[in-house]
Amino acid sequence: MTQDELKQAVARAAIEYVIDGEIIGVGTGSTANFFIDELATIKSRIRGAVASSEATASRLHAHGISVYDLNDVASMPVYIDGADEINAQGAMIKGGGAALTREKIVASVARKFICIADGSKLVETLGKFPLPVEVIPMAHACVARALAALGGQPELRLKDGKPMTTDNGCFILDVKGLRITDPVALEAQINNIVGVVTVGLFAQRGADVGLLGTEEGVK
Ligand code: A5P
Repeated sequence: MTQDELKQAVARAAIEYVIDGEIIGVGTGSTANFFIDELATIKSRIRGAVASSEATASRLHAHGISVYDLNDVASMPVYIDGADEINAQGAMIKGGGAALTREKIVASVARKFICIADGSKLVETLGKFPLPVEVIPMAHACVARALAALGGQPELRLKDGKPMTTDNGCFILDVKGLRITDPVALEAQINNIVGVVTVGLFAQRGADVGLLGTEEGVK
């Protein structure tokens, strides 16, 4: 099976976690896109969705799914999203698609986080995938120095030769070289650096369910 077929299989399996008549939190990225396409096939069963990025909102709208402002939604049964890496405890690295801040916010309002990923995302120790950190633009250099002091090698994410700007008007530092043995502690430590908006470690609130697409089926 191709990686896309594995992503599609987990996206389909995640439909089982959608609760009829409810608003669903929807993530960002290629796996989340497959999920949105699956969600469209049962759209009459749900009230709508909260999107974790402008890209996700556009795709939901294109399918005719109502998109709610998070400020109008008190709680959601589930948030369904992909990951760049996930460990056996459900701690994740996210933000490869630059949507980490809105993803963490929407996930925080959901009662369950369902992670959907192809099996290659399962790792023993997080950190091979560069850790995304969203930062206030004026602080990117001082935050980079603080991240280097933690042992990482931060790089400002660029697009067309300029700093890439997130949906929130911020920048992303991708931090290589971290071997993350205590994700909860590192998440708190990086959150504490002044100028950091969000760290792409989802460990304090990890995945409640991990659906992994493998050659042997969805596990
Ligand atoms: C978006 O910012 C990310 O957190 C994605 O959820 C993550 O990068 C997984 O993306 P794919 O499903 O495209 O691998």
